[in-house]
Amino acid sequence: MHISDVIRSGKEGSEYSIRGWIYRTRSSGSIVFSVIRDQTGIMQCTVKKSDVPAAEFDAAGKALIESSVECTGILKKDERAPGGFELRATGFRVVAFADPFPITANQSEAFLLDNRHLWIRSREQTAVMKIKETLLQGAREWFSESGFFEVTPPILTTNACEGGTTLFSLKYFGEDAYLSQSAQMYLEATAFSLEKVFAVTPSFRAEKSRTPRHLTEYWHMEAEEAWVDNEGNMKIQEDLISAIASAIAGRRKDELELLGRKAEELKVIEPPFERLTYSKAIEILNGKGKELAWGDDLGTDEERLLTEDYLKPVFVTSYPKTLKAFYMKDNEEDPRTYKCADMLAPEGFGEIIGGSERETDYSKLVRRLEEQKIPMEPYRWYLDLRKFGSVPHSGFGMGVERVLRWICRLEHIRDATPFPRTPSRIYP
Ligand code: 4AD
Ligand code: MG
Repeated sequence: MHISDVIRSGKEGSEYSIRGWIYRTRSSGSIVFSVIRDQTGIMQCTVKKSDVPAAEFDAAGKALIESSVECTGILKKDERAPGGFELRATGFRVVAFADPFPITANQSEAFLLDNRHLWIRSREQTAVMKIKETLLQGAREWFSESGFFEVTPPILTTNACEGGTTLFSLKYFGEDAYLSQSAQMYLEATAFSLEKVFAVTPSFRAEKSRTPRHLTEYWHMEAEEAWVDNEGNMKIQEDLISAIASAIAGRRKDELELLGRKAEELKVIEPPFERLTYSKAIEILNGKGKELAWGDDLGTDEERLLTEDYLKPVFVTSYPKTLKAFYMKDNEEDPRTYKCADMLAPEGFGEIIGGSERETDYSKLVRRLEEQKIPMEPYRWYLDLRKFGSVPHSGFGMGVERVLRWICRLEHIRDATPFPRTPSRIYP
């Protein structure tokens, strides 16, 4: 049985078998205290020389941390044991003896990253992976209930969605190709078939920036909606984020607590989220002593300052055109800007979603590509979408690890993914 099931429904005095990995172990003469870990929790097994076959007692004494084991025993209450129970072993089988485990207390971040394949067994990493699963699951449930179809865009592409400077390039049978930065353009195409679509794909950014919120490979949850404007797009995003927060608060209370986040803090994440224009954001930042001019980009530091006092996410709308990609829709209310919005996470975490209404005017898109000296040929198919019954449409992309970092209150985004890829790391 899983350890959590034994703790929840086990009867004192009955016999149970658990299996897992040794979390810690110590022996004192004729007793071995072996704490076993499985995916659900930890439980102490007390192995007495007099209660198990001699070979099994020997093996229990020799087995080091992270050896895989199976233990059968009688359940006993024990206030001092984790979970309040222990198993008094009647049998203890070592499945595989472990070498001395390299990870011990007080090791450097670099060492832990080099041993990531082993470090992900830690309780914190296990909790983060479970919360990530709930994030993805909760989001998929919300999308499905809200009439969205999940689609499967390609990763190998011939064009940039978010600009040429962060593209990973490769040779595709002799031709230039790139790893996808965003599925957006393919989602726009499928939205003219299915109307409301979403996708969860890896996205790649050859970003040299070493910040606590950039990965070179991350999971991107993107949606595209036909017949929806920028305001409708924001409503969809706040509903989605609130559904994610509520799924995690409801299903992952213990894991959140282990990471220092109270589930109650996520329960306030409900629509509506405040909307600030970019111009207003600049004013606020100026008021906080940041010297910024209209047109300057908001980086990690600016977004931290802007959101540190918020408890819910906030939208920043109407960014200057110079800061955003070519496909966004003109904002008639302020022609210097686009009809777009970024969602920033509270408590200083910053951008978690980038979204916009899309430009539907064929000639405007062509002009922008020309102005930005972007070769037209790879975008032919994308421009076609404006020639065959284009409709108003909008969409967004959410960084899964960005959201997880905020929800789990992680210092660095690399801990939001089991095998982080950063400019200085592609191993293990
Ligand atoms: O703001 P971005 O670049 O927007 C797009 O890619 C749009 N084409 C999305 C769309 O409209 N379908 O990226 C979207 C989100 C960001 O808000 C951020 O959460 C995340 O992707 N992101 C990253 N996450 C981790 N590491 C990076 N280097 C990231 N770059 C973007
Ligand atoms: Mg962005």
